[in-house]
Amino acid sequence: MKKDLVSILDISDEMSDLLELAARLKRERGVHERPLEGKTLAMIFEKSSTRTRVSFETAMVELGGHAMYLGANDMQLGRGETTADTAKVLSRYVHGIMYRAFSNVAMRELADNATVPVISGLDDVEHPCQALADLLTVQERKGILKGLRMTYLGDGNNVCHSLMLAGALAGMHVVACCPPERSPDKGIMAKAAEIASLAGGSATLEHDPAVGAEGADVLYTDVWISMGDDSDADDARRMFSPYAIDAKLLARAKPDAIVLHCLPAHRGEEISAEVMDGAQSVVFDQAENRLHAQKAVLHRLLR
Ligand code: CP
Ligand code: NVA
Repeated sequence: MKKDLVSILDISDEMSDLLELAARLKRERGVHERPLEGKTLAMIFEKSSTRTRVSFETAMVELGGHAMYLGANDMQLGRGETTADTAKVLSRYVHGIMYRAFSNVAMRELADNATVPVISGLDDVEHPCQALADLLTVQERKGILKGLRMTYLGDGNNVCHSLMLAGALAGMHVVACCPPERSPDKGIMAKAAEIASLAGGSATLEHDPAVGAEGADVLYTDVWISMGDDSDADDARRMFSPYAIDAKLLARAKPDAIVLHCLPAHRGEEISAEVMDGAQSVVFDQAENRLHAQKAVLHRLLR
């Protein structure tokens, strides 16, 4: 296993084992082993968070360890200390670093300079821990992953990138259904297509939301404007509103389709309140699964 989890591709070979471990840790919550006794995770946040912060901290505590919240602006990092020096210093104190960064360049710089594992809690390119929790949720509901059709609708962003790669690794048929001007990174889609074809699935780009949703087992969406994205709200509405998951779009998916959203959600924008709070939505299981998926990651990387 690689030292870090910066891209979902860092765990290509271990993804199904991690999902299995996450499921066991979920079943055995409260009674499972505590392998991280005496270990500390530093958590650096350059952006806001509810789920990532609370789930990582809880995961560390339940595995016997300790987590330390570090707001980037309260650190010397916010006053010009380099990312590389921060990585070297923190590595002398703690056993792992979770980093929520504005840029993937900074994420990689931290990982390259840290001697302890660095786990991404999101950057502008990927959100790997989210994708792991997403697949855990689909696996729980559907019993399988391979062969399922999973369509992501909206902005081809960090969440979309990790989801495409993770779904491809699992042999799913993943579809990124995005407006042309906000399609996912071409290199990531090409990589997802290559991986998916080896695993018996596919990864395709689609611009028509009706076609994208048709026959899907899983529909997924995320906010129109990500943290750090300075897009205009009116432009975003014009571009993304055709991709919003509402009852009409959901009716195009399979009757037993499930709906995922990484949260936080904006009801009435990327998802209607009716769908978000409806019977096919699994978004709160998905949010809970961040805890279990990250426990599996910490269990494997920090021991
Ligand atoms: N989904 C997710 O990463 O949520 P937070 O921004 O609340 O951590
Ligand atoms: N794409 C969103 C995900 C938030 C969890 C963002 O980067 O803000």
